[in-house]
Amino acid sequence: MVQAVRGMRDVLPQEARRWRLVEDAVTGVLRSFAYEEMQLPLLEFTELFSRGVGEATDIIEKEMYTLNDRDGDSLSLRPEGTASCVRSLQEHGLLYNQTQKVFYTGPMFRYEKPQKGRYRQFSQIGAEAFGFQGPDLDVELLLMCAEFWRVLGLTDFVQLELNTIGAQASRIKYREALVAFLMPLREQLDEDSQRRLTTNPMRILDSKNETTQALLADAPSLADYVDDDSLAHFNSLCASLDEGGLTYVVNPRLVRGLDYYTHTVFEWTTNALGSQGTVCAGGRYDGLVEQLGGKATPGAGFAMGVDRIVLLHEQVHQDLPNPSVDVYVCFAQESMMRAAQLLAQNLREDQFRVRVHMGGGNFKKQLKRADGSGARWALILGEQELVDGTVTVKDLQTGDQETVTNAALRGHISSETTS
Ligand code: HAM
Repeated sequence: MVQAVRGMRDVLPQEARRWRLVEDAVTGVLRSFAYEEMQLPLLEFTELFSRGVGEATDIIEKEMYTLNDRDGDSLSLRPEGTASCVRSLQEHGLLYNQTQKVFYTGPMFRYEKPQKGRYRQFSQIGAEAFGFQGPDLDVELLLMCAEFWRVLGLTDFVQLELNTIGAQASRIKYREALVAFLMPLREQLDEDSQRRLTTNPMRILDSKNETTQALLADAPSLADYVDDDSLAHFNSLCASLDEGGLTYVVNPRLVRGLDYYTHTVFEWTTNALGSQGTVCAGGRYDGLVEQLGGKATPGAGFAMGVDRIVLLHEQVHQDLPNPSVDVYVCFAQESMMRAAQLLAQNLREDQFRVRVHMGGGNFKKQLKRADGSGARWALILGEQELVDGTVTVKDLQTGDQETVTNAALRGHISSETTS
């Protein structure tokens, strides 16, 4: 048997049910904040990501799925959605002199080392907003995330970490200071950090290596280099979050792994998933549109990892309500199939999810299938019922059985079926 490619996951029906619940809840919140859905291609020119995400990031250096198509163009499966979103809105003239609030969902691809919560194909729900300079947008994005956690019943399981990394100019100055500090200590740094010293030194702050972290204790602090405007932006954001009652921790080491960020950056993390604890992350990227060839336009957004949220949801809410079948229709013999299908169709029009038995067999066998399907109700259509215009309803939870008229059927089951 051919097996799935490493890092590419199947989402089986049981998990897909939870997945749907999570995605519907999150996109429902996004719509309630009047963000509009858009859809973006999975393949883009490689250059979009190297220019947008940054040449020296892990994503571009070693994680992209890149191929040459038949015309010789270098294309890549998207590793994230922000660059594509900017490309698309720009290409369709939807950024110039306008504001936009959009969201997208779907798979992203990164050649990472697979483990629990980290896959090579994973799914994100991303939200992006353009044309808003002030911290009120940053506040909205974070309150919207808090609303996701509330509706998913996850508020007590996630924490918000925040930082400001300043404008590009202040970061360049900081970068120089950091390199000057670390260069003499180069030999003591872990291998990745040594490499990053010349490619992307700020990522060293994120290093998980303990020796490197100890060396960083005396390093210049990013906060000392952040420009006044950026600090004012950040202070205003924090004040609004305090006012809104949103708890957060300022993490001065938080820099994020993509190059396009400016000013605010944030991550929502959980302790419940081991090392892959970041469930949602984002920030401002006021320079990205210009960097990709457009007119300078402020932007900010985030993306949540659906796979991780689903894992967390499963841990916190083990029971999954909302089974996929409400009603299972059993019928005495083949000649009654049409009647069984009509009965099912009427219930489907009333939003019940109905399966009609297939494959024949006696009622005992059919009821066993009904039980196994997870349905709450079995409907039994025998010869007598057909003549009388009735149906026998078996409550598969209690075992109670009652014969009701066709007209009374809906009322009988709708009063007890959970939606
Ligand atoms: P990111 O931090 O690279 O940011 O990814 C966002 C989220 O996607 C992560 O916090 C995580 O939950 C999930 N994720 C990332 N990689 C994997 C993986 N290999 N397996 C499972 N889940 C994963 C971005 O992608 C930015 N585009 C976010 C953004 C939008 N910033 C501004 N706007």
